[in-house]
Amino acid sequence: MTADIIDGKAFAATVRARVGRQVSALKASNGLTPGLAVVLVGEDPASQVYVRNKGTSTSEAGMKSEEIRLDATTTQAEVLSVVARLNADPSIHGILVQLPLPAQVDEMAVLDAIDPAKDVDGFHVINTGRQAVGLPAMVPCTPLGCIMMLKDKLGDLSGFNAVVVGRSNIVGKPMASLLLTENCTVTIAHSRTKDLPGVCRGADILIAAVGRPEMIRGDWIKSGATVIDVGINRIVKDDGKTKLVGDVCFEEAKEVAGAITPVPGGVGPMTIACLLANTVTAACRQAGIEEPDV
Ligand code: GUN
Repeated sequence: MTADIIDGKAFAATVRARVGRQVSALKASNGLTPGLAVVLVGEDPASQVYVRNKGTSTSEAGMKSEEIRLDATTTQAEVLSVVARLNADPSIHGILVQLPLPAQVDEMAVLDAIDPAKDVDGFHVINTGRQAVGLPAMVPCTPLGCIMMLKDKLGDLSGFNAVVVGRSNIVGKPMASLLLTENCTVTIAHSRTKDLPGVCRGADILIAAVGRPEMIRGDWIKSGATVIDVGINRIVKDDGKTKLVGDVCFEEAKEVAGAITPVPGGVGPMTIACLLANTVTAACRQAGIEEPDV
């Protein structure tokens, strides 16, 4: 079997176009321009690329984009004061503080300081809790993008065995919670899981979010399974050049899986599209306007 390739780039383009139309309608009917602020502390090269892409996509969708760059020695108090200013700014409806933060800044304290209504990352404990119990919440962008691709491919997800490899607060845990909301039978696997290959082989839906290049091999995958690869790892090839690979060995997996997301061009573009969609949702909720479907 050769797997269907799930084209996240094309899917993300349709989501971004829809968000663009929603933004135009909000401006025309309500005089509302959704605004997103992205805060980057330090010079991590990967984070710089992500932040630049987020800013460009936000402007392209017709929204207000504010980018705040702070140097790597910025104190926690300074970051908190930026967050407080953005919380109080009525033209900003979404705030994203790019992670990871430098060691002197307490990540949890910063995430906790963001107004939950403006938490377009969905990382605040209020949003985590609200999502878990089924209340309206801001939902983390990467897991939301994965769910959208899965539903597009499989339709109703009820009853599928889903295995999430990785238990981070950013992806693994919220991913598992969203899959449970979709009525999947969910297993969260991690570095201490016994017989990880065997656990993965039980998955109809396999989500790889461990951050280890090509760790998941073809023979860990059930024939016909849908594989979503969240990993983005830069590796050095034999010729000394670098390339991006996922957490799944794509060449092996595509011979076994029913469908698979590539890296790059799978989950990554969907994350940014969902960030834009979350910003529109946040702006509508803050303005008391009925929110469009994501
Ligand atoms: N760093 C890597 N992924 C993310 C993300 O989704 N949100 C934020 N804020 N930082 C990240």
